[in-house]
Amino acid sequence: MPTITIDNKEYAFQGQPKLLQFCLDLGVELPHFCYHPALSIPANCRQCLVEVGMPVRDRETGEITRNDDGEPVIRWMPKMTTSCSVDMADGMVVRTHRTSEQVERAQKDNLEFLLINHPLDCPICDQAGHCPLQNQTYKYGPEGSRFEFLKVQKPKKVVLGPRVMLDGERCINCTRCTRFTDEVSKSHQLTIIERGVKNYPMTAPGEVFDEPYSMNVIDICPVGALTSIDFRFRARIWEMSSAPSITVTNAKGANCSYWVRDNLVLRITPRTNLDINEYWLPDEDRAVWPRFNEHRPEGSQVRMAGALKSVDWEAAYARVSELLGSVEGSNILFLGSPYATVEDNYLLGKLAASLGASAPAYIPHVEPGAGDGWLITDDKTPNAEGCRRLGIHPVDPELVRARLEAGEIAAVYVLEDDPVASGLFQAADVQDIPVILHTYHTTNETIAAADVVLPAAMVVETVGTYVSVDGYAQRVWPAKAIRGVNRTLRMEMGISRPDSHGTPFDRWHNESNQVNCKPSWEMLPAIARSMGLQEEDASPKAIMQEVAQTIGSFEGADYESMGAHGVRLAEIGATV
Ligand code: SF4
Ligand code: FES
Repeated sequence: MPTITIDNKEYAFQGQPKLLQFCLDLGVELPHFCYHPALSIPANCRQCLVEVGMPVRDRETGEITRNDDGEPVIRWMPKMTTSCSVDMADGMVVRTHRTSEQVERAQKDNLEFLLINHPLDCPICDQAGHCPLQNQTYKYGPEGSRFEFLKVQKPKKVVLGPRVMLDGERCINCTRCTRFTDEVSKSHQLTIIERGVKNYPMTAPGEVFDEPYSMNVIDICPVGALTSIDFRFRARIWEMSSAPSITVTNAKGANCSYWVRDNLVLRITPRTNLDINEYWLPDEDRAVWPRFNEHRPEGSQVRMAGALKSVDWEAAYARVSELLGSVEGSNILFLGSPYATVEDNYLLGKLAASLGASAPAYIPHVEPGAGDGWLITDDKTPNAEGCRRLGIHPVDPELVRARLEAGEIAAVYVLEDDPVASGLFQAADVQDIPVILHTYHTTNETIAAADVVLPAAMVVETVGTYVSVDGYAQRVWPAKAIRGVNRTLRMEMGISRPDSHGTPFDRWHNESNQVNCKPSWEMLPAIARSMGLQEEDASPKAIMQEVAQTIGSFEGADYESMGAHGVRLAEIGATV
């Protein structure tokens, strides 16, 4: 196998890696700005310089020439080179800033150049705290500034499009943003204008940067030149915690991080998963953060004398038990949910089966033509595939309406959906029969017809599994706490100092921002027990184990195999 020597240490390599990427994969840090593994390599920031040499070989024998100490004689390239663009070769010898004063000096000088016209507005810049320019200047840069002139002024607070703002003077001209629009999203909406120290990215005159993936340039901009209009000045990075998860705007299951401060979700950013979304996230996946904070219900409610009244959870369960117990099981319509996890839908199926009802059906939320064949799908729910694999299929609206008219449906149990807003039936159609509703929002139109309202934890507050349209089973972790119930969510949330509960780096102190809701995987067994059924209280992990043991299309799926990046069910032997 070919080998390369980096800082006097030999490494074997395969294929034709670029030197910078190879070092990054090894954990050998090399400072860089313009390189991005998913983009072409312009090598224009000059920050990743290294010294590169090859052993001298005898022309006749091909043998490596050695010096008196037996060490190979190295012919160093006359100038330093950019490691991002160098193809590795057998025998290559590399000196980084760790072993070369020349490289160390070059990095320092280069940073001095980059900083000449870059404003030192870190205290008010959104990128501060996770800015490569800030970090690398701290680690590799000059100690102070020798610059004594006025900095070049570039346009500030330029609204490039509905979601992205440019602060031109911060741009270091790495061209990552323009390469993204040219090579990845292919919208070609950004280009670099002006020359030399005056250049910055811009749209064509009169054009708007409004492509559906525009916010990815904010993530890849190594400085704070491109910022989110939505998130600008909302929070500093060190005030926030983030939890790995997936987006629930459509069926792709793109990996993301939910960022939380004060127990409110404030932004959603991509999490690298090369099998699903690589490094990217559509704007529509990011724009939904308010739905995790606004119009959230406060505790369970039961309809009494025509009006919904707040009651404690036990009283709500007792009322559900009373209502369901008063009708024939076969006359209960159970509606599962493509918004809810596999675990929650599975438990609903179990409850339906124990009461003698048919398997639940789910309301599809499909917008034909909305998909783009990439990270946006026609299906606007995250778990239709998980429902299908559980034997929960799309509901037949005609049949439901006919059965309602014929009086064949005596109760409706809705898991995490809104049949009235979806047009499955009108509130008046179910006025005279019990309706039990697990809901996320007070805007749910079915509340008008509900007899019991059970606020359900959303994806950012629960633990569970979703199956993407491509058959990847992926688990989610809680990003924020919910009020007073199961506060560590069965050990899935770390204990932190400020209030003893939450993700390891949480920064919330405001108890009033905690929603009074429960995960459906906790409510459904409690309801089953209140009806005298044998249903153990189990963690989502244990529920998933039961799913994998009882349903062939989930065979082999468990939280270990899913890990942080999910698992393709077909690859672990699950039947389709
Ligand atoms: S705006 Fe950011 S990503 Fe675009 S060229 Fe400037 S520094 Fe690079
Ligand atoms: S990362 Fe190599 S030149 Fe920019």
